[in-house]
Amino acid sequence: MAKTVGEGFFADPRIKEAKKLIQDALKEHQKQITGVKPGNPELKESYDALLKNMGEYRGGALFYNYLGTGIGNGPLVELADGSVKYDFITGIGVHYMGHSHPGVIDAQITGAISNTVMNGHLQQNVDSAKLIELISKQACKNGAEVKNVFLTTSGAMANENAFKMIFQKRYPAARFFSFEKCFSGRTLGMAWVTDKAAYRQGLPKTIDVDYIPFYCAGDHQGSIDLAVKAMKKAITRFPGQHAGFCMELIQGENGSWVGHTEYFEALIKVCQENNVSVFIDEVQTFGRTDELFSFQHFKLDKYADVVAIGKNSQVCATLFKDDHKPKPGLMSQTFTGASSQISASYYIINEIVNGGYLGKNGKIEKLHAHFKGHLEKLAAKYPDKVSGPFGIGAMVAMTVFGGDEAKSKAFTMKLFENGALSFMAGTTPTRVRFLMPIMAVENKHIDDVCALIEKTLNEMA
Ligand SMILES: Cc1ncc(COP(=O)(O)O)c(C=O)c1O
Repeated sequence: MAKTVGEGFFADPRIKEAKKLIQDALKEHQKQITGVKPGNPELKESYDALLKNMGEYRGGALFYNYLGTGIGNGPLVELADGSVKYDFITGIGVHYMGHSHPGVIDAQITGAISNTVMNGHLQQNVDSAKLIELISKQACKNGAEVKNVFLTTSGAMANENAFKMIFQKRYPAARFFSFEKCFSGRTLGMAWVTDKAAYRQGLPKTIDVDYIPFYCAGDHQGSIDLAVKAMKKAITRFPGQHAGFCMELIQGENGSWVGHTEYFEALIKVCQENNVSVFIDEVQTFGRTDELFSFQHFKLDKYADVVAIGKNSQVCATLFKDDHKPKPGLMSQTFTGASSQISASYYIINEIVNGGYLGKNGKIEKLHAHFKGHLEKLAAKYPDKVSGPFGIGAMVAMTVFGGDEAKSKAFTMKLFENGALSFMAGTTPTRVRFLMPIMAVENKHIDDVCALIEKTLNEMA
């Protein structure tokens, strides 16, 4: 017997039946999406008009001629010109589940038929309580103390909240450390942390950041010494003024550059000696290594003061230790996320944790090895065109044509035309990267995408 009307509603057999009908219809239609397909010439005119409109109303053309119909089949997505493409960039790392995943759709329906479109800090449903408990327990399972979870709507906002609580704790220290070539988001605050001049052109200065050179695998000890020296120098120059260190343990937007535990520990030691909070930006890395959090992969659990997650988690969040709890008034938000987002988030995170994705023998590692093997072969076969592969887990990248920006862009465009989505990352060198829909990808899909990569390389000769 249901204890509340809500429990009764969600357990109503008619809801179950309605969901089943939707799933049956989905399955039947999905069957038609079986592989890469060119656009339908009859739809070209209307599709081009749609794209033109979209570009006009949003104030600029889209990067790719991509407007989806709203259905896909795993790693394959249908566009409104009738074409089907492999999605190996997933909205820059969001669609972990691929397209039209039945479990995720089921979770979204549950959210969609709940009483409100959005949850917010004043009024949240039980799904939010379940979600933050799951995130908190997973984050702290190896001894990390970031047990408090504050939900929010974007990665940049999760980072903003992290910076705010660190500044408040360390007041009046007002500077931050971050890594050279980092990406932290595009709010007025984060635009000054992100190490790219073009992203803050014309914006008033908000945060003073001292940048630390990132880890270099080719010069392990040298890069550690260089980074520690840079950090100590900045501390000597601005004594007592650094509040926190924003650490992206694997640089995603820069092209999947991977750090090292010894390197991070050497820098964290300097932070601890100088009352600098350790903030780990996991917006891109969450769910992409052999552990749910990359700080768990690098065994930095005991050092994390504040952590931000986003993308794969669907709902973003800032996690923090008790000693970084903000004072009343510092943080709140009208929205924490849509009800369907929150229920999908729980489904996806639970699936990543319990579905065989993590661990040394998990799906992520296996897919990585398969993809890497293909790209190594391509690099050996076309040494003047491909180098790499780079990255870790579900973050895979390569360099084409020596990392030339224009040629890399032309390559991604051509690969898109040929049927696969990738994206560029970083500058000097620019890399081409892939953020696979892990829950939907199998080796055969990677084989197909690598065949498209080879075709594209040959066409660009
Ligand atoms: C490491 C990192 N931090 C923050 C962000 C910003 O997230 P969002 O685009 O959701 O605001 C990103 C986005 O790419 C990211 O990769």
